[in-house]
Amino acid sequence: MTTLRVSNLSKTYRSGEHAVRAVRDVSFEVQDGEFVALVGPSGSGKTTLLAMVGGLLTPTAGQIDVNGRDIAGLSSADRATFRRDSVGFVFQANNLLPYLTARQNLMVLKSIGGKRVGKAGERADLLLRELGLEKRARALATELSGGERQRVAIARALMNDPELVLVDEPTASLDSARGRRVVESLISEVKGRGKLGIMVTHDLAMAELADRVFQLHDGELVKATSVTAGAQPSSLG
Ligand SMILES: Nc1ncnc2c1ncn2[C@@H]1O[C@H](COP(=O)(O)OP(=O)(O)OP(=O)(O)O)[C@@H](O)[C@H]1O
Ligand SMILES: [Mg+2]
Repeated sequence: MTTLRVSNLSKTYRSGEHAVRAVRDVSFEVQDGEFVALVGPSGSGKTTLLAMVGGLLTPTAGQIDVNGRDIAGLSSADRATFRRDSVGFVFQANNLLPYLTARQNLMVLKSIGGKRVGKAGERADLLLRELGLEKRARALATELSGGERQRVAIARALMNDPELVLVDEPTASLDSARGRRVVESLISEVKGRGKLGIMVTHDLAMAELADRVFQLHDGELVKATSVTAGAQPSSLG
């Protein structure tokens, strides 16, 4: 059972005289088994919010409570442990290691982390199969299509069995049919495994695949919509 509770979260970037209030007093709650889309114009604070929830960036104010633990208040060593054990990230630039195979890209973190290494091969094979990549497991990352690379990145994010799966623009480099298949695989992995997913997207058609849509504007959460089957994009505001 995982609960993420974000309370009055803010982030102000400062460089010299200049201050950018990227995230302003944002609060929400998400449970495991839920998949949330985070939408909003460029510069509205989506990546900043995601990076704070994932323990990559320290908030200026507010709390991020994951199962009763305040992530914002952790030491940097404890935050690194939180990221390693509890968070799976998928970014737009999926950063696969180019001269390793799909399967080796899944295994590489395992051998660094050194945890349950023996089971890692089985888990990699299971995830590759579930994401429809079993035939591509031995292909080098450089030989994969964009959609295949994103599915490898999703599999890799799930290797550690994280509680939170955080995804930033996973389909920006894909056409809409391919992008949709990637997001559908992602959602089915996240929900099927009882995890909690947050996905940043510009694409309202992708956002509609989520259970709820959070909309940011100038750093503020202006709208949280439940998505019902058949909802029109215009209902997202
Ligand atoms: N490291 C930084 N230092 C200073 N300002 C930053 C930094 N990162 C982001 N910003 C600013 O904070 C605001 C929010 O940026 P953020 O990257 O979170 O937006 P976004 O919604 O993810 O945008 P996009 O859709 O273009 O990716 C923007 O005004 C941006 O210029
Ligand atoms: Mg962004």
